[in-house]
Amino acid sequence: MDERGTTAMTMTGARTLAHLSKTILLVGAGKMGGALLEGWLGLGLDPKYLAVLEPQPARELTALAGRGLRLNPSASAIGETSAIIIAVKPQMASEVVPGLASYVGAGTVVVSIMAGQTLGFLEQALSQRAALVRAMPNTPAAIGRGITVAVPNVRVSGRQRELVHALLSATGAVEWIEDEALMDAVTAVSGSGPAYVFLLVEALARAGAQAGLPADLAARLARATVAGSGELLQRSPLEPASLRQNVTSPGGTTAAALEVLMGPQGLAELMARAVAAAAERSRQLAG
Ligand SMILES: NC(=O)c1ccc[n+]([C@@H]2O[C@H](COP(=O)([O-])OP(=O)(O)OC[C@H]3O[C@@H](n4cnc5c(N)ncnc54)[C@H](OP(=O)(O)O)[C@@H]3O)[C@@H](O)[C@H]2O)c1
Repeated sequence: MDERGTTAMTMTGARTLAHLSKTILLVGAGKMGGALLEGWLGLGLDPKYLAVLEPQPARELTALAGRGLRLNPSASAIGETSAIIIAVKPQMASEVVPGLASYVGAGTVVVSIMAGQTLGFLEQALSQRAALVRAMPNTPAAIGRGITVAVPNVRVSGRQRELVHALLSATGAVEWIEDEALMDAVTAVSGSGPAYVFLLVEALARAGAQAGLPADLAARLARATVAGSGELLQRSPLEPASLRQNVTSPGGTTAAALEVLMGPQGLAELMARAVAAAAERSRQLAG
């Protein structure tokens, strides 16, 4: 572990979940829960090892019941669960989580992706003895390109950590931290981060229109530029600073813009203030 409490985990993302042979219980199959479910099935998880608690199941979910998935089973009907993933809205937490205690067995690891709900809350609502992981995904999970940060409590075994890593990897990359206090900053960077990037597209489009482009052309240019640059970043081994320097000739047009963006009160300062505000809000919401 380094001085910031992070651990360099070298576990690779799961290529298959076909070997799992104990029940995974998903609680809440909305946007994020649905993305996880889709990812698990894509990785070969047999629906007969899946159970879902969802008051208003979508048609696709009901259809999976025909392939063995159990929909809204009671705790006694479900047998032993290896993992429970809680993906309901944080506002539902105090109503939903205590009711899950009966589904938690001796070997179960409980994973919550509810923003702002602490390990302490989960221990209180379930049991001090439960193996728990708090995780923070982000919206690109919907296309399998998310990044999730996970923090375990002391009860989580190595095997449980591997299982959780495999399950969370279904929607993208997974990073582990050991210090839960970092979760506020994680929320401010990767959790809320996609919104900052979408804002960048909006601002670039507006600036393009102000520079004389037709608004719809400016919007298309801004969108494709950010999406393409993101993909380039994804595929390139280079650091972002090198990619930036590679398109900046001295005295050129990009350099003129970067002088503004990297000048006093430029983007770095603005981003630092934005991230600090989000982290502070995350601390307030967690109480
Ligand atoms: N979306 C994101 O980008 C993102 C990022 C980070 C973290 N998260 C976290 O992920 C969690 C889910 O977010 P989401 O965007 O996927 O929300 P969502 O689409 O509203 O999904 C929540 C699901 O839970 C269901 N539900 C409600 N009460 C339930 C109950 N008693 N038992 C079982 N299921 C129940 C809801 O059903 P109904 O629709 O019928 O109420 C809904 O399908 C949140 O806690 C959020 O903080 C989301």
